[in-house]
Amino acid sequence: MAVTLVDWSRDFETGLPWQDEQHRELFDRLIALHEAIEKRQSREVVAQTLDFLDDYVASHFGQEEELMQKFSYPEMDRHLAAHEEFKLMLVMFHHFVTRTRKLVLAAKVRAELNQWFLTHIQTTDKRLGAFLREKGAES
Ligand SMILES: [Fe+2]
Ligand SMILES: [Fe+2]
Repeated sequence: MAVTLVDWSRDFETGLPWQDEQHRELFDRLIALHEAIEKRQSREVVAQTLDFLDDYVASHFGQEEELMQKFSYPEMDRHLAAHEEFKLMLVMFHHFVTRTRKLVLAAKVRAELNQWFLTHIQTTDKRLGAFLREKGAES
């Protein structure tokens, strides 16, 4: 499957160091996962990535959501819905990898996760980052 990968760039940065660092880590993991699937040496890396993504949803999304709540972020509902969409993709990813063991489908879901991620940080998270910076909530 042809998948377009992009390099990390400053376009993805929200200006909040903790948020940028965590986004960068997810970005690197998705690249590693892509390479593992392409090389079909992937079982272990896929399993590790799934563990990472599960933790990521709890910690990174949790951190963003806590701050949205704390500062009564006006776009919170929409942002939460986007996080839920990611969680749903992650459930599908688990299913394909652990149940059906069809890596072609896993690769498709990985591409969708990647696309979601790039769109989300460039729009939704950037708006949140700007809001939090304005509130002085940088860490
Ligand atoms: Fe984020
Ligand atoms: Fe987010």
